[in-house]
Amino acid sequence: MSVRLTPVTTTEGVAPFTFSEHALAECRAIMARYPEGRTKSALIPILHIAQAGNDGWLSVPAMDAVAVLLGIQPIEVYEVASFYSMFNLRPVGRHVLEICRTTPCMLRGGDALIAHAEKKLGIHVGETTRDGLFTLKAVECLGSCGTAPMLQCGATYHEDLTPEAFDALIERLQGAYTRSNYTDR
Ligand code: FES
Repeated sequence: MSVRLTPVTTTEGVAPFTFSEHALAECRAIMARYPEGRTKSALIPILHIAQAGNDGWLSVPAMDAVAVLLGIQPIEVYEVASFYSMFNLRPVGRHVLEICRTTPCMLRGGDALIAHAEKKLGIHVGETTRDGLFTLKAVECLGSCGTAPMLQCGATYHEDLTPEAFDALIERLQGAYTRSNYTDR
């Protein structure tokens, strides 16, 4: 079972959310791929767009905006967003590090890598570093078992990972100013 970050389930103190014009145009282009009445099928790519436009996480207002856009019930959005580990239901750091801990990765040192990451970052799985740079997650199989152990950061896979390679990645990201959002666009 993945360690999920405790979701923020309130709107109190949470910033409102609106899609930017650009994001809205992207959403509408994706929705147009589906037959009339079936635009709910666009939910996952639109959640990625909403998450990217909301500082890397899906607040209740962001999910509600997705529900309005797709003409579906908010609960339908919450169900999907809370099922997939790629969606963050609370604020995260600039870079979200998802280390796989399913069996093939575990057999190739995934658990030791998670322990190493916790020590290197000074946090536990599910936490964000004080400087807001890194959130560490342990997730289920990311489909790269042949190159285990691995982690995903944004849209990039880091495979055949070693503690040394992890440290090098952290040092590289410390100097990077982009947010590591995953989108499938
Ligand atoms: S078990 Fe780690 S990617 Fe599949």
